Amino acid sequence: MAKTFDPNILKGRAVLAPMAGITDSAFRLICRRYGAALVYSEMISAEALSRGHSKTIKMLSFREEERPIAVQLFGTRPAAFAESVERLERDIHPDFYDLNFGCPAPKIVKNGGGSALLKSPEKIAEIARAVVNIAKRPVLAKIRSGWEVGSENALDVAKLLEDCGISAIAIHGRTRSQMFSGKADWEIIAKIKQQAKIPVIGNGDVTSGADARRMVQQTGCDLVMVGRASLGNPFLFAEIKAALNTEGGRQNSEVPPVSWPERMEVVKEHIKMSMNDKGELRGIREMRKHLGWYIKGIPGAAALRQELMQAETEEETLKILTRIGWEKENDE
Ligand SMILES: Cc1cc2nc3c(=O)[nH]c(=O)nc-3n(C[C@H](O)[C@H](O)[C@H](O)COP(=O)(O)O)c2cc1C
Repeated sequence: MAKTFDPNILKGRAVLAPMAGITDSAFRLICRRYGAALVYSEMISAEALSRGHSKTIKMLSFREEERPIAVQLFGTRPAAFAESVERLERDIHPDFYDLNFGCPAPKIVKNGGGSALLKSPEKIAEIARAVVNIAKRPVLAKIRSGWEVGSENALDVAKLLEDCGISAIAIHGRTRSQMFSGKADWEIIAKIKQQAKIPVIGNGDVTSGADARRMVQQTGCDLVMVGRASLGNPFLFAEIKAALNTEGGRQNSEVPPVSWPERMEVVKEHIKMSMNDKGELRGIREMRKHLGWYIKGIPGAAALRQELMQAETEEETLKILTRIGWEKENDE
């Protein structure tokens, strides 16, 4: 049975996009603390989860403070989605489910999953119905504008998903063939919003509070989803939250830029959580990409990046980070 997804119960309108290899528990929690109103897991294989694959189940751990959280599933087989949701209902209790019909990664589309499903709307409908039938919580879906330029079918797919009982749709305004190139098409978000009776989450190329406002103004979307711009900059959610907190079209609060000492504290905590969740070696290794993003733009950081990429312990990592001297840099 269809359930309602009410964006008004969220605290804010900016949402952290699902990002494989990035939106793990630690990063999600930091984004929530800085104002993300909703966070998504990394994409989870419905096949692996339905079989109870232990590594996959580990990826589902989250901290209560992260709520509301959506678990995103990818795959092709409706029964695997349904069995996964049964397991999630029983053991994990996220707030929402999300269906991945947008991933462009070759290893996913070659098996017919992610954005490849946009070529088979009937398959999308089967998956959506199978999950909606079983889920006791709202089921969301995330799509791209189509498989390739010239065959954009997001409007039809969005309507189909709504008819299947999906509770909200996130739309990234690019086709699969565009991958991440060019500019996201916000017009398709506006068209889906005009047509849809369910909430619409706009996605693509939001990098600032001003962008988020523009997206809402241009498309009427209910929520704004942010992916790449949050890398190394979870603080962006505070900026977007303030920018979207408007009355009479005027922004009624502004946030000062986050100081470098505060950033350093966040980085340290991110490292701690990553190690806590994954063990020191894996935790540090997985932090490397985040560290590269966090230090972007700090004078003198480029030279130390290479060293950070080699560090294997917390101690080594912190030593290098301290040498960057961002305590002294303070606000831009
Ligand atoms: C590294 C990376 C991993 C991603 N993984 C996923 C994923 O697991 N599921 C998904 O639906 N989208 C995934 N995406 C797409 C994002 O959710 C988002 O749609 C896209 O980055 C566009 O938003 P942006 O312009 O704000 O980055 C990923 C994007 C990136 C850059």
